[in-house]
Amino acid sequence: MNTFDQILNRKESGSVKWDFMQQKLGLSETDLLPMWVSDYDFKAPQVVLDALQQRVEHGIFGYAERDDAYYQATMDWYQSQHDTHIEREWITTVHGVLPGLAMALQMLTEKGDGIVMQSPGYGSFRKIIEFNDRLVVENPLKETEGKYQLDFDHLESCFANGAKAMIFCNPHNPTGRVWSESEMIKVAELCELYQVWLLSDEIWGDLVVGDAQYYSALRLPKALTQRLIVATAASKTFGLSSLRISNFMIPDELLRARFIRRLDAHGMDVFNSLSMSAATIAYQECSGWLIDLKNYLRSNIAKLEQFIQTELPEVKFVVPQAGYLTWLDCRALKLTDTELEQKFVTAKLVPSMGIAFGKEGSGFVRLNLGCPSASLDIALMRLKKALS
Ligand SMILES: Cc1ncc(COP(=O)(O)O)c(C=O)c1O
Repeated sequence: MNTFDQILNRKESGSVKWDFMQQKLGLSETDLLPMWVSDYDFKAPQVVLDALQQRVEHGIFGYAERDDAYYQATMDWYQSQHDTHIEREWITTVHGVLPGLAMALQMLTEKGDGIVMQSPGYGSFRKIIEFNDRLVVENPLKETEGKYQLDFDHLESCFANGAKAMIFCNPHNPTGRVWSESEMIKVAELCELYQVWLLSDEIWGDLVVGDAQYYSALRLPKALTQRLIVATAASKTFGLSSLRISNFMIPDELLRARFIRRLDAHGMDVFNSLSMSAATIAYQECSGWLIDLKNYLRSNIAKLEQFIQTELPEVKFVVPQAGYLTWLDCRALKLTDTELEQKFVTAKLVPSMGIAFGKEGSGFVRLNLGCPSASLDIALMRLKKALS
């Protein structure tokens, strides 16, 4: 049996996705199948579990720092997986991508400053921008037949109008788009031209499932990296999100010194020994696991595609280039977002509603396919019930 086929009970495990639908989404119905929060219903790789077990058996959890193995594993991973060279000193470590992005915004911009993000775009970007009293400046993606492109003219006008920073999501959540080398370079050139800080969130970078090539901003020519911070993490890749660990790679020395000082200012210069063990072993030993996982995700995505073609032809779906989040265009059904949500709740399936990703997401839903194929079968039946 494929290990990813195993159905594990996540209820009462403190899972946001499974246990907190009432608190977070206001849904009190029973037997809901959650396909919203982007984490897997799979066990983490066995070697990661073994390393954690071993670390627990050691039994001492005093203050910890990142050791050589942690740095080396991280650098080797980017070199071998993404042909991306990282200098050891570029690596700063934060307790999650969102906390690090929020800290970078606080450090680099002032209250009231405009921060650019694409729309549709990850809702938590909006949250950290707004809750830090900055303004969301939307750069809507251009969509044709489900394919998304950056609107560079509009982006330039956002910068010309004074935006101070941009959070760029590569690969992109929720559309699964992998931005090309030339697109990345163009974004960075515009940032340089208008002196805009570029925060490139590359948490999805390991999860390319199509033919597109992920081009990390860390590969940009040096002249384009002076205002660059790149967020990466093993957490999304290997299902370790609650271990709260990410790396913020900062090639520019002065910018890096400012960021490290900012981390120190928050007392964030001590690291979680369990998270470090997990991230280290994952990068050292789990490239094979990742290949298997991506094959599994591809087959889940293909199953959804087939199902939609035959059972729900009104729904438009383009296979994501990266990730396991699928972005379903339900606009042809001519439902309001509230009606659409209600239909899903009645069918006992819980996607993320597209409207949560900005007004360009209205009429869409995002379904998380990081689940065993048998759970997907149930989800497909419920999807049909909701939408047909
Ligand atoms: C684009 C993106 N950035 C960041 C995060 C969250 O990262 P973290 O859990 O490390 O804060 C997510 C989670 O879904 C995400 O999709």
